[in-house]
Amino acid sequence: MSHEQLVREFYDNAVHCYESIMGHTWHHADPAAEARGLTGLAAAQELEEQVVALAGLKPGDYALDFGSGVGGETVYMAKVASCNFVGLCNNEGLSARARALAEKTGMSDKVNFFTIGDEDYKTLVAFPDACLDAVIFYESVCHLPDKAAFFRAAYRILKPGGRIVGLDWLQRPFGEYQTEEQILGAISGVNEYYRIAWHGTVDKYREMMTEAGFDVTLARDLFEGVKCWGSTPDGERPQWTNYEGPEGEFFRKGKVALDAARDAGVFTVGLFAATKRA
Ligand SMILES: C[S@@+](CC[C@H](N)C(=O)[O-])C[C@H]1O[C@@H](n2cnc3c(N)ncnc32)[C@H](O)[C@@H]1O
Repeated sequence: MSHEQLVREFYDNAVHCYESIMGHTWHHADPAAEARGLTGLAAAQELEEQVVALAGLKPGDYALDFGSGVGGETVYMAKVASCNFVGLCNNEGLSARARALAEKTGMSDKVNFFTIGDEDYKTLVAFPDACLDAVIFYESVCHLPDKAAFFRAAYRILKPGGRIVGLDWLQRPFGEYQTEEQILGAISGVNEYYRIAWHGTVDKYREMMTEAGFDVTLARDLFEGVKCWGSTPDGERPQWTNYEGPEGEFFRKGKVALDAARDAGVFTVGLFAATKRA
């Protein structure tokens, strides 16, 4: 079974766990907004507003949200920017839920969700050259074995001057974990339980985007120098550790592995922005 197929099947079960605990939005929030005491959703949406600004999205623009999950961020960004979004992922169960959300929120004229084949991310072949104003990703590229191919495909489908902006799970040296072997020792449970092909680093993402042809304008560890406990409110932990839905034990163990990597400091989240030169 390919890694991409494993990811697709992972989300058949993860959707029950994630929706019951996180609702429609499954990515980390802006740490400063969380520190101000905003709810997880409000702080995540504040980050989405920053992403919209970094992407330079204007009313009427066309953008792709790659790995759109159940669509929470896609609908919100389309609303905030008054622009049009296509959300893509490789799991039809997620896309169907995202479509229902768009319908329920009255946004189905602005956002469309499609399911693509497991390896279509390497070419994004359904899109002609230079057709989009922006490509956005939230914590989806981390799943891909061939991340560099995705960045090349994103470059191809963007208009000159178009931007790619995204947030993703990363690994890094921290404290006593300095060598690749030590880092992997502390984070490999996350790869296993969350079906992450491999965790990149801030530098590796910058390199892949640059090699694809982009001018990278932002490549930042959102938790520079501190452990990444973003979007893990203590009050929410029992919902994870006592989760009893489909494959409950798997998701409980996953939470333990992720918290261990957060505590070791080797897990973090990065924010990226880059432009296709006009
Ligand atoms: C952690 S979820 C993030 C969902 C959404 N971006 C959010 O933050 O709420 C990861 C998303 O990446 C998608 N994904 C993973 N591998 C993929 C692939 N090979 N092709 C397309 N989508 C993929 C999953 O289907 C899922 O929608």
